[in-house]
Amino acid sequence: MAPPDGAFRNAPFVMINVHILNGPNLNLLGRREPQIYGSTTLADVEKLVREKAEALGVAITFRQSNHEGHLVDWIQEAGAQGAGIVINAGAYTHTSIALRDAISGSGAPTVEIHLSNVHAREGFRHRSLIAPVSVGVICGFGPMSYLLGLEAVHRVMVERARVAKPSQH
Ligand code: DQA
Repeated sequence: MAPPDGAFRNAPFVMINVHILNGPNLNLLGRREPQIYGSTTLADVEKLVREKAEALGVAITFRQSNHEGHLVDWIQEAGAQGAGIVINAGAYTHTSIALRDAISGSGAPTVEIHLSNVHAREGFRHRSLIAPVSVGVICGFGPMSYLLGLEAVHRVMVERARVAKPSQH
């Protein structure tokens, strides 16, 4: 049976959806340069992020790829779904105009994150091509960067939805 006219007009909320995207070499987390990136694996990070998402009431998609084009496709997909993005683009952060264009073209609110403090490392890591098209950047907190990134994009999306919502009075 069709819902009565206007049944969902005053629905209390729309589920916020966030895509957590991981770039090259992050599949090796836990084994890769543990003195820099720690011993937590990407599967451990995903578990922590899923717990945080559940506490916030956010739906998430968690993905990793070593291929730039996959990341471009996923950014476009997030934009088309009206989802937010938390992205650790790995080394593509410092090189990829394609990721930058995908983020700005998608319109998805995006938070750039890094496990390590990229500003305390080699000079080539100090420049990010995606930071100018992101809402903000979080780096240096290890796996906690993912949780802070999720919380940040969630808050931004809640605030944008509140501002966009027409007055009920
Ligand atoms: C990284 C930092 C990047 O410079 C590096 O290329 C990575 C990981 C981080 O999470 O600290 O692959 O994004």
